[in-house]
Amino acid sequence: MKKLRIDLADRSYDILIGRNLLPRVGDHLVNPKRTRRALVVTNPVVSQLYGKSLSKGLESAELAIECVEIPEGETHKTLQDAQTVYDHLIEKQYDRNTLLVALGGGVIGDLTGFIAATFLRGVPYIQVPTTLLSQVDSSVGGKTAVNHPKGKNLIGAFYQPQLVVIDLDSLHSLPPDEFRAGMAEIIKYGVIEDPKLFAFLEKNSEKILAQDTECLAHIIETSCAIKAKVVERDERESNYRMVLNFGHTIGHAIEALTDYSRFKHGEAIAIGMVYAAKLSCQLGQCSQEAVQRIESLVKQYGLPSQLPEFSVEEYIQTMYRDKKAHDKNIRFILVKDIGRVEIVDRVAEADIQKVLLA
Ligand code: NAD
Ligand code: GLY
Repeated sequence: MKKLRIDLADRSYDILIGRNLLPRVGDHLVNPKRTRRALVVTNPVVSQLYGKSLSKGLESAELAIECVEIPEGETHKTLQDAQTVYDHLIEKQYDRNTLLVALGGGVIGDLTGFIAATFLRGVPYIQVPTTLLSQVDSSVGGKTAVNHPKGKNLIGAFYQPQLVVIDLDSLHSLPPDEFRAGMAEIIKYGVIEDPKLFAFLEKNSEKILAQDTECLAHIIETSCAIKAKVVERDERESNYRMVLNFGHTIGHAIEALTDYSRFKHGEAIAIGMVYAAKLSCQLGQCSQEAVQRIESLVKQYGLPSQLPEFSVEEYIQTMYRDKKAHDKNIRFILVKDIGRVEIVDRVAEADIQKVLLA
């Protein structure tokens, strides 16, 4: 097992990465003596697959365990779903010595983190991410949220977990398209911070897509280490953390224009990364070779690279509406080279139009 530490003063925590960790999770809890009860929040699919082995792990720390299941899918990351969990917590008289446990992908992780941030003004929680995307991205860094009918993640809080437990074995049951969507975020880390990771992904795609354990452990550890480093430097996204949004300006527009139903988040981000790279090259920031490498890698992992057909005007207007748009400016993370990016707050509309039409 590998242990990474994310250093955030009194909000610091460990990220454990390894095999067969769920039945041993009780060995790693923070303050197990003070915690009397744990409520696992999950969905029916993940509960069926991993609920028992996680419960076994928690019981070994002598916790009383209950489980609440929220229906599967992004449409269940809402205040109503949080209410279901609050109702259970209040009805069963849970107090501050309670541990919430998020068992699932990013939807369950974000929802559970939000409930933990708000129930009794904050109770501890741990993340047990079971999708590749949640293992390398959403479980680390403390962004929690629910969706609002007007947009994704509009209601939320920065609230760090006490522990992240990444059990590589849970990826075996993941549908291939979900696995590929997680790969988009790993490619992102290569582009923003780590040319060696990028080259490793180029060289080892067959093994990675076949879920070779050693390769997977390496890319997940490297990704989590990069994310930890970024979050340590700028926990609340006042500036530098925005590099993690590489590919998201166009990616979010694609998701919004297709009603969050045609593309998985990672797929939309893959297209967004390719077009952000093309824009960077058009603006003279990076070479054509860098663009080609990014586009080829996206394709190598079976991810889409072409924009779905909407008008340039629809794209631009949707980008202005994104919560990350800033003072009516569209912000992009531009590529300088593989492993190096720059946050640019004002990209001219004409330049964006040109790349969307190319
Ligand atoms: P998800 O949580 O919807 O999971 C995808 C699907 O995989 C679901 O159907 C789920 O039931 C299933 N599943 C989960 N684990 C499985 C397993 N081991 N085996 C088989 N099936 C399994 O999607 P996701 O991609 O994990 O997360 C997307 C969410 O994450 C979005 O809501 C997004 O906004 C959020 N997100 C948050 C952050 C953050 O920093 N907090 C970062 C990126 C994304
Ligand atoms: N997923 C982007 C972030 O955590 O900041």
